[in-house]
Formats: sequence, C-alpha cells, structure tokens
Amino acid sequence: MSPSHTRTAPTTTLAVDYREPTVDDGTRLWEIASDSKVLDVNSSYAYVLWCHDFATTSIVAEVDGRPVGFVTGYRRQNDPSTLMVWQVAVDDDARGHGVAGTMLHQLFDRANKQGMVAMHTTISPDNVASQRLFASVAKARGLRFERRDLFPANTFPDSHEPEDLYMLEPEIPEP
Ligand SMILES: CC(C)(COP(=O)(O)OP(=O)(O)OC[C@H]1O[C@@H](n2cnc3c(N)ncnc32)[C@H](O)[C@@H]1OP(=O)(O)O)[C@@H](O)C(=O)NCCC(=O)NCCS
Repeated sequence: MSPSHTRTAPTTTLAVDYREPTVDDGTRLWEIASDSKVLDVNSSYAYVLWCHDFATTSIVAEVDGRPVGFVTGYRRQNDPSTLMVWQVAVDDDARGHGVAGTMLHQLFDRANKQGMVAMHTTISPDNVASQRLFASVAKARGLRFERRDLFPANTFPDSHEPEDLYMLEPEIPEP
C-alpha cells in the first residue's frame, strides 16, 4: 500500500514518554505494525524476541502507559559503528506530533554513546513519508543522507517492493 504523502498539522498536543522496550511490549509492537497497513508484519514472536534481544537498540513511545509507536533496530555485525533501523511505526492517532522523529533522535543519541555514528535503514520507493522522516533526522543532525539500491523486487519471492538503502553518515572532513 502506498502511504499518504501529505498531512495536516495536529490540533492537540500529546504527552509522550520514551523508553527501551521490554518483552511485555512485544504484542503491542506487533499490533502497531499490523495496524499500520504499510509495514511488513512479522510474527508476534519476532516482536517479542526483538524486545528481548535488541532492546538497547530499540525504543518505544507511550501515551498514558500505552505504546503508540516504536523503532526497532540493531547494531550491524559487520560494521559496529552503524545502527540499522529495521522498522518505525506510529499509531494513526499519534502521527504528526513528531513522535517518530523524537524516537529516532533519542535512539540515535543512545546509540552514539555506544559508538554507533551512522544510521542506516531500508525504505521502499513509494514510502515518501519514511524518506522524509529520515531526511529530516539527517538534516537536524548535520549528517550526509544518501540512497543506494539494495534489494531489487526480484530479490523477493512475492510481490514485495524493492528496498533501497538509506544511509545517514557523518560528513568526512576535508583533508
Ligand atoms: C512514517 C511515520 C513513522 C511518521 O510518524 P510521525 O510520528 O507522524 O512522524 P513525525 O511527526 O515525527 O515527522 C517527522 C518528519 O517526517 C515528515 N513526515 C512524516 N509523515 C509524513 C507524511 N505522511 N508526509 C510527508 N512528510 C511526513 C514530517 O513532515 C517530519 O518532517 P520535519 O521534521 O521536516 O517536519 C508514520 O506515518 C507511520 O507509522 N507510517 C506507517 C509505517 C511506516 O511507513 N514506517 C516507515 C517505514 S519502516
């Protein structure tokens, strides 16, 4: 499904808390992914396991004690200086309040302290909202924002869109 590329400014403010996920959040993350109608929905077990094994590279946003958004990520095994963001989602009702952007900034702040200086993710060509989200984070942090082909459509056995690699990288200083 192609996500909307325009949106109206919210008329209310939202009191949001941000924290590392716990195993108890797994089910809710699976629901948010499923409700998004955009993300690939993995098994409920995948989200529970993620919250167990990759909590330090993931983040949850909650309102009144209920998760309304999440970012799941991992530290790349073959490049430990990179935080790879797997999925980002915010409940429909909480969108447009800067929740996704704040989650990415807070997660990246945390990752920076662990030595991760770059952030990568994959985005399908029709997901302009996600492209803008990551472009905005790159700009705010003074990072280079670069796209490369990664997985063309024929990588997948079904009708999956291509997944392009987006890289937020520190500027290389002039010699
Ligand atoms: C994409 C998504 C996570 C954005 O969440 P959000 O909390 O509303 O995003 P924010 O309010 O933090 O916006 C951050 C930036 O992205 C831009 N953006 C977010 N949604 C947008 C949209 N639909 N159209 C255009 N720009 C959008 C905002 O303008 C903002 O840019 P700015 O900082 O320059 O003002 C949310 O719409 C979502 O869950 N979509 C479905 C799942 C998905 O596509 N996930 C990403 C792929 S893994």
